[in-house]
Amino acid sequence: MQNYGIIGYPLSHSFSPVIHNMAFKSLGINAEYSKIEIKEENFERHVLSLKKGNWQGFNITIPYKEKIIPFLDKIDPISEKIGAINTIKVEEDGGWTGFNTDYIGFLKPIQSHIDKIKSCLIIGAGGAARAAVYGLSAKTKIEKMLITNRTIKRGQILVDQIKTFAKINCLFIDLTELKNEKEKVDLIINTTSVGMGAQKDKMPVDPIPFSYKNTIVYDLIYNPVQTQFLKAADSAGLNTINGLPMLIWQAEASFNIWTGKDFTSVLVNQLFKIL
Ligand code: ATR
Repeated sequence: MQNYGIIGYPLSHSFSPVIHNMAFKSLGINAEYSKIEIKEENFERHVLSLKKGNWQGFNITIPYKEKIIPFLDKIDPISEKIGAINTIKVEEDGGWTGFNTDYIGFLKPIQSHIDKIKSCLIIGAGGAARAAVYGLSAKTKIEKMLITNRTIKRGQILVDQIKTFAKINCLFIDLTELKNEKEKVDLIINTTSVGMGAQKDKMPVDPIPFSYKNTIVYDLIYNPVQTQFLKAADSAGLNTINGLPMLIWQAEASFNIWTGKDFTSVLVNQLFKIL
């Protein structure tokens, strides 16, 4: 029996065990995928104990996508550029290799709009934001990025970093100053956790002032299916996308790294139906 798991905190909202356990079952792989919920104060000790256990791979989620990096033995070059990890493969020799599949999942639902996306507003500057920034800069013709974040320093660090690998006009805007910003953008993305769990009645930012009729409003949250952020956009007649497609497609990319196999189309259809 192989063992896989998702490391994060909290994990009560996570659909990843359902996805991967269905995938293992449908492909006849004898493996189990479990939740490994670790509080911040126990992180180092718990991760070091996982390194000694019988594990073949992990997913990493909020709030550890950056904090896990010092525990890796290798990191693939794209993931190093992104600076955040959501997948670990345990190699034959026990070494941990880190990957980022979030950017692959992030791009899938906007694939058909990719040529039209020239500007965006990104809310947040954590691991998910980094994956979105990389995906957009590598695969679209984006010219302008506005980034806002609760912690100013973290937002500014991300903006400075983007400038090292992409020729994009990239600006940080303080959350409190967003109300003075008049610019309309093609894509608005919420990468924060505002809109889920205890914060499910909140919006990270009101998307409407930054929207015009073709703006796509994309929330990386998948639970709830429609956040307040997406509700506001939907009520204004805007094109909205939730985090479910990204969740499913990043999971497939992780699964492929671990097993060399893709999800079947039957499984993908089933996942979209039940999740
Ligand atoms: P992930 O790796 O999934 O992106 P993360 O690195 O913990 O998770 O990042 C979470 C993002 O949500 C950050 O941009 C965080 O803002 P800070 O950099 O200020 O921590 C943002 N975030 C989380 N809770 C928030 C809140 N209550 N209000 C505003 N932003 C919040």
